[in-house]
Amino acid sequence: MDRLIIHGGRPLRGSVEASGAKNAALPLLAASILVDGQVSYHRVPHLRDIATMMSLLVYQGAKVAVDDHNRLHIDSRPANQPEAPYDLVKTMRASALVLGPLLSRFGKARVSLPGGCAIGARPIDMHLKGLEAMGAAITVENGYVNASAPYGLTGSRICFDRVTVTGTENLMMAAVLAHGETVLENASQEPEVVNLAEMLRPLGADIAGDGTSTITIRGVDALHGGTAEVIPDRIETATYLAAGLITGGDVMVTDTDDRMLEAFLSHLREAGATVEVHAGTIRCYAKQPLKGTDVRTMPHPGFPTDLQAQFMALMTLAQGSSTIRETIFENRFMHVQELVRLGANIQLNGNTALVRGVEYLSAAPVMATDLRASASLVLAALAAEGSTEISRIYHIDRGYERIEEKLGKLGAEVERRSGSNHMLTGGDFG
Ligand code: EPU
Repeated sequence: MDRLIIHGGRPLRGSVEASGAKNAALPLLAASILVDGQVSYHRVPHLRDIATMMSLLVYQGAKVAVDDHNRLHIDSRPANQPEAPYDLVKTMRASALVLGPLLSRFGKARVSLPGGCAIGARPIDMHLKGLEAMGAAITVENGYVNASAPYGLTGSRICFDRVTVTGTENLMMAAVLAHGETVLENASQEPEVVNLAEMLRPLGADIAGDGTSTITIRGVDALHGGTAEVIPDRIETATYLAAGLITGGDVMVTDTDDRMLEAFLSHLREAGATVEVHAGTIRCYAKQPLKGTDVRTMPHPGFPTDLQAQFMALMTLAQGSSTIRETIFENRFMHVQELVRLGANIQLNGNTALVRGVEYLSAAPVMATDLRASASLVLAALAAEGSTEISRIYHIDRGYERIEEKLGKLGAEVERRSGSNHMLTGGDFG
């Protein structure tokens, strides 16, 4: 299993470019199933989860190619296998994103249920209820969701019990070629949902209201081929800004978009950081130690759960205390005990962590448990005195492109050591 060795204590300085967003790219790739033509994708990040989605599309019969300019071309017209097998879904929950598109296109789909996950139970019941409201017959047997709608899906009014990002994306994709109008209420307002609508509209889809809590989709007969551009990764952007701050450095992230990170940046300002935003770049530094700042995770435009662990790492070295409340996932605190191993003072009480700032962190062997937890350990290790070894680093490879190279560019000393017993198991999967 690969490990990262981080020699901490060096202030990170300089600029680094944001990659395309994993969580935006995944639904965009799944949407190719709906398209009667080829889609050419720009800015798809090189990540393990993306490779998994590509394998899934290839398994279904799509033609997938990468050109010399790093563009990905997908032609799903030859696809003839409306199935997502367990072996692929268990390594990436987002594989469930193919359910809506497969059902819409083939009138049937067989998709493995994702199962549990390191950060919470993460059921997909709202995806299934929404598809049933659109006329699908759904059974769950032998670990698989079997969905059928032989006469096509029909538009419906669907109100989500709570905000779900991939649920909104799945139903939006299912509705694009359905008969009539679908209205999604209490829909996710996440930028990744907007990116999906922005991909589909120029291909012929009729979607309005994305970016608000009510999205209206009027079914059309077909979508034609075209291009799609993945938005910058807001979580990666924020992680590098946090890396600058936690090491007392000064980092600028380029090719990004501050409008997707307002809640995070306003919490940084509240903590005493200087945040400078200019035409697709964000720069952060602090003239004095950060102050303890409270955070509560919420759906967009609130503070993202995918940055909770990284913000907690920052707060471990802040002056005073911070209360960090997780409201999206019930078990997203696996990083707490690992941060404590590095010297942090954190007390957990239900869904709330009380972080009391300490003077310094010190190196220790720690273990990554899920993607964003690993990012918080990288941040803490960058600030810690000594050399920290982070094992099970495959988690981070699911969501951070070329992380050693990017951190190295900012002056960090990071090495990857390979081991032979690389293991992929079911578990946390974004
Ligand atoms: N939920 C249900 N039933 C459902 C769907 C969701 O109860 O049918 C619950 C979930 O268990 C959770 C809450 O609703 O408690 C919100 O979950 P959501 O469906 O929004 O999460 P998701 O779509 O599975 C995406 C991201 C996650 C990110 C969450 C929240 C992708 C591929 N994944 O997951 O990203 O944390 O939204 O913003 O877009 C990550 O990148 O590390 C990651 C975990």
